[in-house]
Amino acid sequence: MLEHAEWEKFAGKTVVDVGGNLGDIMGAVAEKFPEVKCVSFDLPEVTEKMENPPAGVQMEKGDMFDASTIPTCDVIFMKHILHDWNDDDSDRILRSCYAALSAEGKVIIADPILPEAGHIKTKDAPSLYLDILMLVTGGKERTRKMWDELVAKAGFKVAEEKQTGHACCQLLVLEKLDSPVHNGHALGTPVRESPSLKQQL
Ligand SMILES: C[S@@+](CC[C@H](N)C(=O)[O-])C[C@H]1O[C@@H](n2cnc3c(N)ncnc32)[C@H](O)[C@@H]1O
Repeated sequence: MLEHAEWEKFAGKTVVDVGGNLGDIMGAVAEKFPEVKCVSFDLPEVTEKMENPPAGVQMEKGDMFDASTIPTCDVIFMKHILHDWNDDDSDRILRSCYAALSAEGKVIIADPILPEAGHIKTKDAPSLYLDILMLVTGGKERTRKMWDELVAKAGFKVAEEKQTGHACCQLLVLEKLDSPVHNGHALGTPVRESPSLKQQL
């Protein structure tokens, strides 16, 4: 993640790691790129466990389904978040991100990108196994086409795809689409209800 996300481009900008758990990724970014303002955002029950947050990281609590709780920022980073959720819930999370981001804001998704049918290679095995695991827990892995469709529905386009060399973690850099309304829905509408684990299962 440190190598491929080009953090130096975000000097002076605020980056929020949505679902950042205990802030380890933002801690590593803050250490190597101290000019980036690093925020790690997670559920209160997670952030409240933290006695000593990583140096240079602001820990924030909230619910990614509720846009009003995500700190306003220039960049949202999400690693292994959207693959935990079905398309409807992922759309809601992306819409929350849209609302929290500045006009020129970007989202960096770090998740697997499945090969298209007919183009599967041995190196793709880990992401295919992960897809089966996600099916059991209510999420899914996605091909590039599936990612394109998902993010467009929430008002984004994939501006860049970066291969990291790890089958379970490629990077997709999203930018906001020009139109503030997409598919007849106002974008950035805060969504307040988080689906329960029971609904997910
Ligand atoms: C699979 S972990 C990924 C953690 C981290 N991004 C990583 O890659 O190591 C999912 C994270 O999402 C957080 N999470 C789940 N639901 C959330 C919500 N509604 N709002 C904010 N964070 C949430 C979990 O607490 C957990 O830290």
